Order: sequence, then C-alpha cells, then structure tokens
Amino acid sequence: MNSVKIIVPATTANLGPGFDSIGMALALYNEITFTPLASGLEIDICGEGASQLPRDASNLVYEAAQVVFNRLGNAPAGLCIQANNAIPVGSGLGSSSAAIIGGMAGANALLGSPLDKLQLLELAAEIEGHTDNIAPALFGRLTMGLITDGQVFFERLDVPPLTVVVVLPDFHILTSEARAALPDVIPYGDAVYNIGRIPFVLRALQNADYNMMSYAMRDRLHEPYRFPLIPGMDAATAAARNAGAAAVVLSGAGPSLIAFAPDNHQQIANAASAAFAAAGFASRTFILGVDTEGTRSIVI
Ligand code: HSE
Repeated sequence: MNSVKIIVPATTANLGPGFDSIGMALALYNEITFTPLASGLEIDICGEGASQLPRDASNLVYEAAQVVFNRLGNAPAGLCIQANNAIPVGSGLGSSSAAIIGGMAGANALLGSPLDKLQLLELAAEIEGHTDNIAPALFGRLTMGLITDGQVFFERLDVPPLTVVVVLPDFHILTSEARAALPDVIPYGDAVYNIGRIPFVLRALQNADYNMMSYAMRDRLHEPYRFPLIPGMDAATAAARNAGAAAVVLSGAGPSLIAFAPDNHQQIANAASAAFAAAGFASRTFILGVDTEGTRSIVI
C-alpha cells in the first residue's frame, strides 16, 4: 500500500440566500498525507489548527477515514496522518468539511480508489447533514446540493475566474452556536425573499454579473440572527460595500465575511478589517480565487 497525498479546498457556503444548499470552492488548501503503518496511529498537524486539533482517534480526519475503511471492509494495520493546513479552523471556510472529505478521500485512495466522488459525497452527507461545504470541497467550483428521501442530488456549475475577499475576525463562534441562534419559524415573506434570489445568485456568479449579485446575494434566513453574535459584522459589511464590494455576506456560519467585487479587493479587505478593529477585534484577510478541481489525490 503506497502513501497518498490529498489536497482539499476551502469552501464558502450559503452565498447569501442559499442556506445549506449552495456553496463554492476557494483556492486555499489543506494537504493531508496518509501513510500505512504496521500498527498504531500517528497524527502530525502543522499550520492552521496545529495548537487545537486533536492528535488521537477523535481527530475528524481520522474519524472520516474510518467511515470509508468500515464501508470497504479493509484498512491498513496502522496509519500516519500528516496534515499541512491552510484553512483556518472554525472560520466559516469549511475546515470541518475539508477534514471529513480529506479523511474519506485519503482512506479511499489508500485502498485504490474503489469509491467515486459521488459515493464519497453520499458518505460525507451522512456526517455533515447538508451538502453546501462538502460538495464544493469534493468537486470544486460552484455547487448546489440536496439531501432528500435518503438520496443526495448534486450539480456542479462552472464559474469564471472570480476573485473574492474573505475577512476573518479573531472571534470564535461554533457552527453549533450559530445554528442554535436560528429560529424555529420564519416569516413567510422572508422565505419568499430568499427563494426568489437563489437562481439569480447562481446566474450572477456564472456570469460574473456584479450588479445582479448586489441584489440577489442577500439573505433573511440566517444573517439577521447571526450578525448580532459577531461584534463588528454590521460595520464590516457596510465598510466593505462602501469600499466597492457589490455583495457582502456571511461565509457559511461565520464568523468570516466574504465580499464579491470586480476590483479594489485589497481596499475592501482593509476597510472591513478596520471596521472589525474598531469593534475591538483583529482580523485576517484573504484574497482568493475559485478552486475549479475540488479534492485531488496523489499517490506518492
Ligand atoms: N450552511 C451551514 C450554516 C454552513 O450556515 O450553518 C455551515 O455548516
């Protein structure tokens, strides 16, 4: 059994109105090497999450790998996992999905890749419960996904080479907390507000139509409940718009924001970052392209 290296991209989910259904892959990557051992488990992590992610059997990459090993009824006697992470943990950039997809893709590749990506998506969906991060992490580009009646439906859409701005405040919020903030019931008009925008967001991204993005990439299902949890978010999104962003939304469950604009990316990043600073939080900024390949595996 050879070693394999898995390269898995960051992702941004929701994209405004598409809560839990649409997402896009970003050109920021975790690289995870899997090496069969005679026995035991070794986990080495550098980069993002190195000081906080577990190095035992509770590690999410390892847990996800076990799902595939169990499904295939085969596994190496021992395993070494070496992760070189560029995706910030707990950021709204799909680090958990990258771990799940990375672990599953690594286990699959170690065993000669008997599962195709759609089968990996179905397995990952059982863990994640929604597809908006795992689908673009696997397939790249812009994706829409639906889990219903025990099935996973998925489409990948081409997008032109967009450049996005991500601003991540140094503020921690768990996805579980961000989901717990959502109400059980929403006004009928808010559902209509979002439904009407989803097809236009997809079309705007496919056409790099920033004018359409400015109208369509808006949300009433999760942002009104989550923005108050993140100090400075209202001011940061307003500052990004004032600096030239056509659309600014929460990336996934946050706390990062993602801004779409044809140019002025650094100015937008600086403006949002200054707004977070005024609220008392440092931030990190990323200017990123769209990933078009999704997860790749290299036998080494
Ligand atoms: N769609 C998810 C949410 C993404 O907004 O909660 C994070 O898992």
